[in-house]
Amino acid sequence: MLAIIGGSGLTKLEGLSITRRQVIRTPYGEPSGAITFGELDGHEVIFLARHGYGHTIPPHRVNYRANIWALHAEGATHVVSVASVGGIHADLTPGRLAVPDQIIDYTHGRETTFQAYGEEQVTHLDFTWPYCPGMRERCLAALRQTGEDVMHGGTYAAVQGPRLETKAEIDRYARDGADMVGMTGMPEAYLAREIGLCYAAIAASVNWAAGRGDSATEISANSIDVQLEQVMSRVRNVLVRLACMDYGDVVTTTPGGVCDIGPADAQE
Ligand code: HPA
Repeated sequence: MLAIIGGSGLTKLEGLSITRRQVIRTPYGEPSGAITFGELDGHEVIFLARHGYGHTIPPHRVNYRANIWALHAEGATHVVSVASVGGIHADLTPGRLAVPDQIIDYTHGRETTFQAYGEEQVTHLDFTWPYCPGMRERCLAALRQTGEDVMHGGTYAAVQGPRLETKAEIDRYARDGADMVGMTGMPEAYLAREIGLCYAAIAASVNWAAGRGDSATEISANSIDVQLEQVMSRVRNVLVRLACMDYGDVVTTTPGGVCDIGPADAQE
């Protein structure tokens, strides 16, 4: 089953017909909110707002372990994470979407593993390719179906936040090879890998990163809000397409629904 983690601008999922909400207790504390169960175009998904339903939890205070644990415990097998980013690469203009394929983690002080000290053998999991290829392919297919001009791949710089970056920091991330910068990509992606969830991200550029483009002198909070609203309304259509896809569960097509588009378009 598909789980959707909504970031800034996506604290609720319009079009989701909600069947129930479940408060989950986890060994790692409280998730960002109750897990919402519902249907998108007749297909069961679960939804969680990363920053809480009132958007009150800043990126460095999100309980990533509880969120990922809860989604897994409730039957998710695949996760699409929606995250806003600042565009570093010249092609990642505000309003454009990307499906990153690499991460550099600049965060600190976050709980980064489910491994408990002294309880089990230490394991070093492979994380060469941090996103699940199958889930990335589904995201790219869904974006194609909705006519999005998406950036294929790219390196996501995960930063601590909640402040935005300095120009010198962005110049450094660019030299490191980063194409976009966001505050929530890690440790979320790694925890998903550790627990065995197939995880990918749709990154939405909502501003030029500090020192780039029209953020040369400052980043306008107002224009971020405008972009967030516009871009997330498009992301909602992409999520409906994603909900239609096969996650190893029984997939039924709602006649006349957006999923009813034929096998050639429905899959890669
Ligand atoms: N920096 C970090 N995170 C972000 C940005 C940014 O410029 N825009 C949206 N999320």
